[in-house]
Amino acid sequence: MKNTLQDAKIDISHKPIGQFEETRFEKIHNVIFQDSNIASIKVAEEIANLIKKRQGQKRKCVLGLATGSSPIRVYEELVRMHKEEGLSFKNVVTFNLDEYLPMEPNNIQSYFYFMHEHLFNHVDIPEENIHIPDGTVSSDETTAYCLSYERKIKEHGGLDFQLLGIGRTGHIGFNEPGSHLNSGTRVITLDHITRVDAAPSFLGIDNVPRKAITMGISTVKKAKRIVLLGWGQNKADIIKKTIEGEISSQVPATYLQDHDNCTFVLDTSAGTELTRNKTPWLVDACTWTDELKSKAMVWLCETTGKTILSLTDKDYNDNGMADLLAQEDAYNLNIKMFNKLQHTITGWPGGKPNADDTNRPERATPAQKRVIIFSPHPDDDVISMGGTFDRLVEQGHDVHIVYQTSGNIAVSDVDARKYAEIAMQITPSNEAEKIIKSITEKNETRIDSPEVRNLKGKIRRGESYAATRYMGLNDENVHFLDLPFYETGTIKKKNLSSDDIALMVEIISKIKPHQIYAAGDLADPHGTHKVCLDAVFAACEELKKEAFMKDCWLWLYRGAWHEWDINEIEMAVPMSPGQVLKKRNAIFCHQSQKDGVMFQGDDSREFWMRAEERNRDTANKYKALGLSSYAAMEAFVRHKFN
Ligand code: F6R
Repeated sequence: MKNTLQDAKIDISHKPIGQFEETRFEKIHNVIFQDSNIASIKVAEEIANLIKKRQGQKRKCVLGLATGSSPIRVYEELVRMHKEEGLSFKNVVTFNLDEYLPMEPNNIQSYFYFMHEHLFNHVDIPEENIHIPDGTVSSDETTAYCLSYERKIKEHGGLDFQLLGIGRTGHIGFNEPGSHLNSGTRVITLDHITRVDAAPSFLGIDNVPRKAITMGISTVKKAKRIVLLGWGQNKADIIKKTIEGEISSQVPATYLQDHDNCTFVLDTSAGTELTRNKTPWLVDACTWTDELKSKAMVWLCETTGKTILSLTDKDYNDNGMADLLAQEDAYNLNIKMFNKLQHTITGWPGGKPNADDTNRPERATPAQKRVIIFSPHPDDDVISMGGTFDRLVEQGHDVHIVYQTSGNIAVSDVDARKYAEIAMQITPSNEAEKIIKSITEKNETRIDSPEVRNLKGKIRRGESYAATRYMGLNDENVHFLDLPFYETGTIKKKNLSSDDIALMVEIISKIKPHQIYAAGDLADPHGTHKVCLDAVFAACEELKKEAFMKDCWLWLYRGAWHEWDINEIEMAVPMSPGQVLKKRNAIFCHQSQKDGVMFQGDDSREFWMRAEERNRDTANKYKALGLSSYAAMEAFVRHKFN
């Protein structure tokens, strides 16, 4: 899936933009990698080279550093270079961008803690060279404190290199919308969206501080070199606005447009909204692959408001596709595209027995397939593909649901206590008593005790059985892997390990599936869904020589938030109004995730509402293109192994 070979050749050094047709809309130099890991390694290499260069010059190297999920792999690589290649940090002086206010350094949510955990504790940087805004300064001291932070950077000769992430508000550091070009280090009030994004690590928005100390726009812009990291689909919109929009205080990152040595390092998902990727035919002549034709035609229908079969030569010509028309006329293009989309629709996701399957998404044989549905959390199966799940069971396939993680951190203390108290009422036990005590006396760090986590995991198991039974599945076909990478008790998870892969390999080898369904969610490359997908890929890779794997197809569904683009869909499973209701009821079985879920995000709709709207939207898009009209549709893309 990831072309790491090509990634290795990408050069991230700064180049002035605007020289090439393809960057005509862009105002900031950027490079796009398929794999954010390789991209992070490249950035770490640039930092390491700078540190070594300064060592050669017997000078200090002054780094501006960021926290958040984006730079984690960069720090991991720097630590590896220190341990394995002897990269020394003795000449490094660091200034962190920001810190919450108020915030104690020993709080696990502090940026002080983050930086020590990810970098400083593992390298030889002298403690006195580390500068992180102090979240304990009292309100009457903050002005003087911020001025002194600014002065210290200056005394060290300014920042040689500034590493940045970007918030969905367009903030850099915590310079939220409205920040002034000339702003220096100061106290700011966090934007609501920023607090929503931080809520999962604080286990709820109410625990997220309202203020922070941040370096200003002018502080950041004075850095001699700036590299901003952007990973995942969640960042795609703000990346486009920042790179292609006008400079505006409403998107503070746009201030970077006139920095003369700034590079955005992105992964493919974060770069999807850029004009040269989204609508390349508006930028330059294209090589018209089948994929690009489909993408362009869906866009053309949306832009003109027409169905596929009513697109005319003029529509193509007027919208940047004259070169496509030169190769093929509108009539042919339209018919081919219509048929292609028509062939994605099937009410037989496991294949239609005794039918010609030439133009069907799945094979007709074997008529009864063994199917694994991997569900990252205990509920993604019904949320993301409840309708398809239902059809597979009804059509007689041997369906197995495999829950990859326990999902225990998403159960609230209120729910856990309720169940523990019920258990106490039935049979008083030390264990239940311990759980109730542990919840009522939860300590500062807010990590659940192992017993509480165990109970929370069991609650999710119970809910999952309720849903799978409702869908007509026997309990033997329901499996819980509790992958170890997830079991940290906090939002921050461990890296995938051989133990995780071994559990995945074991279950796949046991079931020997003809079909695997997995969450192909790329919205957050560090999120649980992506890690679970990596685990599926790694297990399939390990098993690729097994005979049964040669006959196994992998279908990817999307999570609760994003859906595949219409032109990407390879199987669309329509749902009747009755099936929509059945899916809704199955989602309702996951009671601990209903109403006020712990990790709501900025979308206040419940999961069943998001799923229904998304499925209805897909059906409406097919209808708008001139295909049959259905109540709802679930969509899948087939992953082809190399
Ligand atoms: C962190 C910081 C922020 C983050 C931004 C992106 O020190 O100042 O600007 O870089 O919020 O956060 P992630 O990387 O978690 O998406």
